[in-house]
Amino acid sequence: MSLFPVYPLYDIAITRALGSTVWDDKGQSYLDMYGGHAVISIGHTHPHWVKRIEDQLHQIAFYSNSVHIPLQEQLAEKLCQVSGKKDYQLFLCNSGAEANENALKLASFHTGRKKIVAFKGSFHGRTSLAVAATDNPAIVAPVNETDNIDFLPFNDEAALSDYFAKNGDQVAGVIIEGIQGVGGIRVATDSFLQLIRSLCDKSGAVFIADSVQCGYGRSGKFFSHDHSGVNADIYSMAKGMGNGFPIGGILIAPQIKASFGMLGTTFGGNHLACAAALAVLEVMESDHLIQQAADHGQFLMEALDAVPGLRNIRGKGLMIGFDTDDSLKDLRKHLLFDKKVFTGTAKPNVVRLLPSLAISKPELEQFLGLLVESVEALSGVQA
Ligand SMILES: Cc1ncc(COP(=O)(O)O)c(C=O)c1O
Repeated sequence: MSLFPVYPLYDIAITRALGSTVWDDKGQSYLDMYGGHAVISIGHTHPHWVKRIEDQLHQIAFYSNSVHIPLQEQLAEKLCQVSGKKDYQLFLCNSGAEANENALKLASFHTGRKKIVAFKGSFHGRTSLAVAATDNPAIVAPVNETDNIDFLPFNDEAALSDYFAKNGDQVAGVIIEGIQGVGGIRVATDSFLQLIRSLCDKSGAVFIADSVQCGYGRSGKFFSHDHSGVNADIYSMAKGMGNGFPIGGILIAPQIKASFGMLGTTFGGNHLACAAALAVLEVMESDHLIQQAADHGQFLMEALDAVPGLRNIRGKGLMIGFDTDDSLKDLRKHLLFDKKVFTGTAKPNVVRLLPSLAISKPELEQFLGLLVESVEALSGVQA
């Protein structure tokens, strides 16, 4: 049987990993500045994470959500402590799309309304509502098309105010990434997020902070929306939450009430996934990884600023993007094949850096050295 070929693949098979290094099947090592698409938060195969999962495997891997799963309560408690979001409620699922799907449904259940506001450049996942709220018609199937989602320009306060003045009483929720990831590392301004908060308060709409990529400490605060001093009503989470073990979830503000059967899942919140997620938070806390992401991110951004040919360096913490001159359009490929460094991309000529929050300063310095070599090789300009 062949695989359904939906991904354009690099001819590399990664078979082993530790920290911020991955190895292919031929034993070649690579520096991972991509974190497997922002998923690796505490470092590949972190020993505490491995042990937590291993120990749990010997106890029980899975039982259904029809019984108490104390690990879920421990995870909720730890999340409250590390995120600082007191009084929120936790619903667990398996992926980022599923987290957003549940967040959007919940906004509609809570308000009894249908309209969702999303933004140009957004990516929220590939399930039916999440993809309908994603600004990429190429991945929206005809059956997912709906008039219930309205796309507004990102960071345009006048357009948002105008929209709410006309339609505010119909809006169930506003969904926004604090930093757009797939959209090319575009940071939502503080005043834009604050305006969303106040318009949602006035109209009774639910503020959904998609934190699947920009959350979980990556920006140097637990949620990137925290930089703006606003609280959302629902935070969606996935990627960094399990450090590669599939788990997602939503944090739900206390005014949103549950009823039996409103949301549900077979696998969400299973014992193994909770053990993995607890290990992540324990390491984040003991190793001060959120502060480290802030510090290392600042160091990296300042150093990138001095590299010729890189423009518009932006982001927060260890979620960083930059545009490249045309002479550097093959920079990502050069880094991968000649310098053995994984990075991410976005259209048109954006390089995205999403390393583990535990990446060390010497590893960042190594990356910067290799980056300069690639830039010089491609552009002929001495850095
Ligand atoms: C901001 C954001 N939301 C949602 C998703 C979807 O997550 P998943 O691929 O786990 O369904 C992604 C994935 O890249 C994302 O970046």
